[in-house]
Amino acid sequence: MCLSNATKRKFERSAWVATILLAALCAGGQSVPAKAKVDAKSAAAASELDWWKNAVIYEIYPRSFQDTNGDGIGDLNGITARLDYLKELGVDAIWLTPVYPSPQVDFGYDISDYRNIDPQYGTLADFDRLVAEAGKRHIRIIMDMVMNHTSDQHPWFLASRSSRDNPYRDWYVWRDGKGQTATGKGQPPNNWQSLFGHSAWQWDDKTRQYYYHKFYIQQPDLNWRNPAVHRAFEDIVGFWLERGVGGFRFDAITTLFEDPNLTDEGVVLDKNGKPVINAYGDPQLDGSKTDNQPGLHQVVAEMRATADKFASTRFPGTRALIGETYLPNIGELKTMYGTPQHPEFELPMDTQVAFINKLDVAGFRARLVDAESRLGVNTPLLLFDNHDNPRIDARYGDGLHDTAIQRVISTILLASRGAALVYYGDEIGMKTTPPSRKADVKDPIGITGWPKEKGRDGERTPMQWNDTANAGFTTGKPWLPVPPNADTINVRAEQSNPASLLAWYKALIQLKKTVPAFARGSNVMLDTENTKVLSWLRQAPGAPRVVVTVNFTAQPQTVDLAAAGSGIAPEKLKTLLKSPGAADPASLHHIALGPYGVYIGQML
Ligand code: NOJ
Repeated sequence: MCLSNATKRKFERSAWVATILLAALCAGGQSVPAKAKVDAKSAAAASELDWWKNAVIYEIYPRSFQDTNGDGIGDLNGITARLDYLKELGVDAIWLTPVYPSPQVDFGYDISDYRNIDPQYGTLADFDRLVAEAGKRHIRIIMDMVMNHTSDQHPWFLASRSSRDNPYRDWYVWRDGKGQTATGKGQPPNNWQSLFGHSAWQWDDKTRQYYYHKFYIQQPDLNWRNPAVHRAFEDIVGFWLERGVGGFRFDAITTLFEDPNLTDEGVVLDKNGKPVINAYGDPQLDGSKTDNQPGLHQVVAEMRATADKFASTRFPGTRALIGETYLPNIGELKTMYGTPQHPEFELPMDTQVAFINKLDVAGFRARLVDAESRLGVNTPLLLFDNHDNPRIDARYGDGLHDTAIQRVISTILLASRGAALVYYGDEIGMKTTPPSRKADVKDPIGITGWPKEKGRDGERTPMQWNDTANAGFTTGKPWLPVPPNADTINVRAEQSNPASLLAWYKALIQLKKTVPAFARGSNVMLDTENTKVLSWLRQAPGAPRVVVTVNFTAQPQTVDLAAAGSGIAPEKLKTLLKSPGAADPASLHHIALGPYGVYIGQML
């Protein structure tokens, strides 16, 4: 026997780990017994179901990842060409921001056809090839699904706006103006605002009504009180599931419904009782009538049921549903998982941890404890940035220790329990690079909000592959400029440097996948009064425990993780990962950390 039954059970949830273990234990010419083969098979089946629970999901903004046809815009074939890089990094799934046909007002989030690929990104055949090639590498493709709104060029909206009695009229949210007369349009129906600035109501001259848009004017909101809209999206989701996608990320999901009475929203006041004015010059509203309204959970449960129906043999296993869930607290986040009877998202984004936006040990500890203890049996989905938010450097960096700080943040992301979203380029430390002139802005909110809101171009710059012209992203003119720091911050340079951030990410991901306490263990905070160093323990039944300790300051720190009363015996440690140049600690009593230093050790 190469494996004891107990050892096998430990690894049941990960086929990959089971395979590695079998390979390692059975090396040296011993053959694998039949029972072990059967166990490995059932481990593989279980891991197809549970793959998302410890997954690393890599977000690609396709426009900016890899161009293969020289038009300066990334494409699907570019992503396919880079799959080996992603495999080596260790990702389980790729979330693609929208690649459907679109006028590109919101760079794909304004969809005009949900069943095709925008020609600037490729074709359906290219997409199928991407899914197949990714599948060969055990990487799943997650599509972005935008159900809150369509493009104003979508045939549904063109029909809807063509006349008041068109069958599609009720697919969108149309209302008369306040004080509207036979000749005058009156005022917008209420005070609701677009998240992208100014009134959320747009007058339509032809049919003489206003339509509602939570985002750009070119993104009319669908009417989710119309059952036909539900059926249409079940079909669309089915279309992509049939093509073998591994799941969806549901865009703007909390804004599907609005208060049917159109009640005005409250104005947010500052501490002096004056209205807070946002970057667009409008009073800030509280979102109480247009966000997280009744009806939402039923839609997500419907999508979950649709996804569960697809046990396609092309890519077996759970089709994971991710939610774009910016919610005010952990209680609201928990509701997005649904109930055992009516399951909803597998992975609603935990924005509580992501957007603390300062290196505050107590804040992180409290939010991570919430993620561990207040989501029930559910799996947290941690993240730190994405295509809508400045990258990690801009929110946590200090300009001096940015790489070390990226190690701190990535350790929290990848050494905590749950699934993790990694935004393309974070693994090499790409920096937020906003435009310096309004004339250069591409994201329309950066034009409306300039200079307070510079838009999202800064976090969408091209992937930095090497130090050649345009960082290896394109042979043409990149749609957004490549930051000058691509000379030093790039994949090629970091691949050959064992102390690079890229090497750190790879090592962390490998630990996440292969160390049992990381792959399936819980998080328990240690040294909980410490305000400078965040430490935690990963533990799983029958597996060696692992300590993780992270210095949140620019000064060296020392921690004693086996102090009296800690409940931890001063066992010996085996270093699994540590910041470059750091020494191995003598014991759990004395772990020395350099500025923003990180140490991960297994207890022996
Ligand atoms: C959230 C997306 O992430 C963002 O990029 C987009 O502009 C809005 N939803 C509207 O779809």
